[in-house]
Amino acid sequence: MRTLVLAVFLTGCSSGAGPTPTGTTCADPDPITGTTTLTYDNFGKGFMEKYCTNCHSSDLTHSHRNGAPIYHDFDSLFGVLEVPDHIDEQTGYGPKAQNTFMPGDGTGGRCPSTKGGALDEACPEPTAEERTNLAVWVACERERTHNFIDAGVGSAN
Ligand code: HEC
Repeated sequence: MRTLVLAVFLTGCSSGAGPTPTGTTCADPDPITGTTTLTYDNFGKGFMEKYCTNCHSSDLTHSHRNGAPIYHDFDSLFGVLEVPDHIDEQTGYGPKAQNTFMPGDGTGGRCPSTKGGALDEACPEPTAEERTNLAVWVACERERTHNFIDAGVGSAN
């Protein structure tokens, strides 16, 4: 009995050890009525270009991604919305978790200073406020309606 209890204790999940959903919710997903609402244009695009797309970009071939997995391309809103949970769990701050895995967790904290380049600098770190805003933006963006077909994404035309 004693052994069983110990085994349960050791395999129990220690909180904060791995990627964890931040539990962030969106107060108002409407970018038109919300004067401070975060959008792709006023926040997401700049955040991704500053911290993520040097490795996670659709125009980077496998050998130029420094290990960033395929189908994790953040150079478009469409790409972000393919894996919003993963982004929240890797990089977001919220009521249930503060995730700091990306950027840098897969490369020993090193990042390329140019898109697709070698790991030649310490990864620039998003601030706590930026990580919180990221989680809010992703939570709101997934509640909005998007028409990627008419925008030309995923369309054969
Ligand atoms: C140095 C290049 C690099 C940069 C910059 C980078 N990543 Fe990554 N990313 C990786 C590597 C390598 C992996 C796979 C290894 C890992 O998961 O630790 C990865 C994996 C991921 C995953 C998938 C994890 C999973 O398996 O579900 C997500 C989501 C992610 N990154 C998001 C981001 C976000 C968001 C940013 C910007 C804040 C970012 N990454 C910046 C290299 C990078």
